Amino acid sequence: MYRYIGNKTKLLPFIIDKTKELIGETGTVADIMAGTGTVALELRKKGYSVVASDVMTYSYHHLVVNLLLDRSPAFAGVVGSTSECKTPYEKVVGFLNDLGFKDGFFFNEFSPGGITSSGDDARKYFTTSNARKIDAIRDQINTWVALKQITENEASLLKHTLIMAVNRVANISGTYGYFLSEFKKNALEPLVLIPVNLDGNENINHTVLRGFAEDLAAGITANLCYIDPPYMKRQYAANYHVLETIARGDYPDAIGKSGLRDWWDQHSKFCTKTKGLDSFTSVIRNMHCDIFLISYSEDGLFSLEQLIACFEQFGNVDVQIIDYNRFRSNDSPLPQKLKEYLITVRK
Ligand SMILES: C[S@@+](CC[C@H](N)C(=O)[O-])C[C@H]1O[C@@H](n2cnc3c(N)ncnc32)[C@H](O)[C@@H]1O
Repeated sequence: MYRYIGNKTKLLPFIIDKTKELIGETGTVADIMAGTGTVALELRKKGYSVVASDVMTYSYHHLVVNLLLDRSPAFAGVVGSTSECKTPYEKVVGFLNDLGFKDGFFFNEFSPGGITSSGDDARKYFTTSNARKIDAIRDQINTWVALKQITENEASLLKHTLIMAVNRVANISGTYGYFLSEFKKNALEPLVLIPVNLDGNENINHTVLRGFAEDLAAGITANLCYIDPPYMKRQYAANYHVLETIARGDYPDAIGKSGLRDWWDQHSKFCTKTKGLDSFTSVIRNMHCDIFLISYSEDGLFSLEQLIACFEQFGNVDVQIIDYNRFRSNDSPLPQKLKEYLITVRK
């Protein structure tokens, strides 16, 4: 499972049941803070047409893979004949795995072998060899993109595959907010790209967008909109900056001890007490949609009462309370058991 704050894998049955109850078994569902794409994928599997988006670039790539692909793309610009039993995607992944090492951005900024450009101590997000492997793969993907040898969806698939591999060997306690001082067992394993399974999802009538929900809402028409906002002050852009850098394929200034990129352009108002409710209001008001399903956590920034008061301006509000075992980082002092709210708003 993808370790991501607020990942809804465990809540999928509740979300799908509620969706069925509210709009039946067909229709268009918007998932406008889609994160890992877990909910979007499940909606696709259940036969809904999905409009999915998020403000983070890595999420965009996950969504392209989860919603727009149903088999290996051709990779015609980089793969010759595929005579053997391998798909073009498997061939490309094999090629990338065999590339070897390169001393590049990840090596310098995120591994103990490198020298940080900021002059901070070497960072330990990855072993030196894994960081050098990431550099080789990243630069190869960038070259293919620059030469237009792979399509946008093919690039998304390769970046998605790299991010999943990076998550397996990252030396972190849950998020990329900081690295661990000693390499833990999984981080010492060699980084290997593993092709993801793309079969069995025939339904590909979906839309993937990237951006702030507040900005995209007016352009979206749906029968139901699922909103799964951040519920804490912790910004996703800061906690997953390493994945964002892989997703963008860029070489940003890595600042301070943790090597954070500048993330202000992806700062979420949902993580603030002062602006969060205004953002809910703007999304619900502007989207062409009459039914909203909102996930929220018992220990979120806003109390259930505050949320209900905000949503009641639009119409009828109904709350389902689910007992839940949450994802937390290993060193988190937060309790593991808590309640998750599924709030329905009918305009
Ligand atoms: C709780 S997570 C969603 C988890 C997702 N349902 C899953 O299962 O992986 C919240 C997501 O909201 C995104 N986000 C935060 N503020 C946003 C905004 N204003 N517009 C769009 N996405 C936003 C974050 O990047 C994050 O991926």
